[in-house]
Amino acid sequence: MLQIDVISIFPEYLSPLKLSLLGKAQDKGLVSINIHDLRDQTNDVHKSVDDTPYGGGAGMVMTPEPWAAAIDQITNDQDEVDLIILTPAGEKFNQKMAETFANKSHMIFACGRYEGIDSRVGEYYAGKSNFKIHQVSIGDYVLGGGEVAAMVIIEATTRLIPGVLGNPDSLKEESHSITGANDEVLVEYPNYTKPASWRGLEVPEVLLSGNHGEIAKWRKAQAERRTQQLNKE
Ligand code: 6GU
Repeated sequence: MLQIDVISIFPEYLSPLKLSLLGKAQDKGLVSINIHDLRDQTNDVHKSVDDTPYGGGAGMVMTPEPWAAAIDQITNDQDEVDLIILTPAGEKFNQKMAETFANKSHMIFACGRYEGIDSRVGEYYAGKSNFKIHQVSIGDYVLGGGEVAAMVIIEATTRLIPGVLGNPDSLKEESHSITGANDEVLVEYPNYTKPASWRGLEVPEVLLSGNHGEIAKWRKAQAERRTQQLNKE
């Protein structure tokens, strides 16, 4: 079973992880998600988690001690841990990364706020043989913190775990898992359902034909066309 721990100063921000597909996956014992409040690891009355940056500059940096206390509390030396540090300066998250993460046993998501977490937290755990560190971003824009990014990664990852989706065939022909003639990653073909005629718009004839070979060919061509269009923009 995949164990996921998320550390944040806004634990309530992560409450949607209890809902829908992920809530059911936890009930079924396919994944276990625990949210931790970083401020529980502070010792001062103000429960402070940040300080001014060495070298100067605007904003605040999260101090290393509460992070290490939180991480140490949820791990032991036998535990193989993948520590995900959410940062706009990280490696861009994609479907391939989600597939890799879906095979892990214990992931910890460190959701930084402000100008990020003291760099030595990643450096320290990178020096431990049972830890793998991943600095991850979800796209080329800046969020207020890592919480939403962690939820994006957790949702994309956990739906790939066998048993999480009601119909595992749903994974076969979706965007980013279809490949074209040259093995390039494609987005999905357009989908249609009933009614066949709606507000003067018709479902493409080939989809009503019952000819599975022709349908597959048409869908592949549509996926290629859509992908090309996106790559032009
Ligand atoms: Cl992981 N964190 C923040 N703060 N902003 C982001 C991001 C992460 N990914 C894209 N923008």
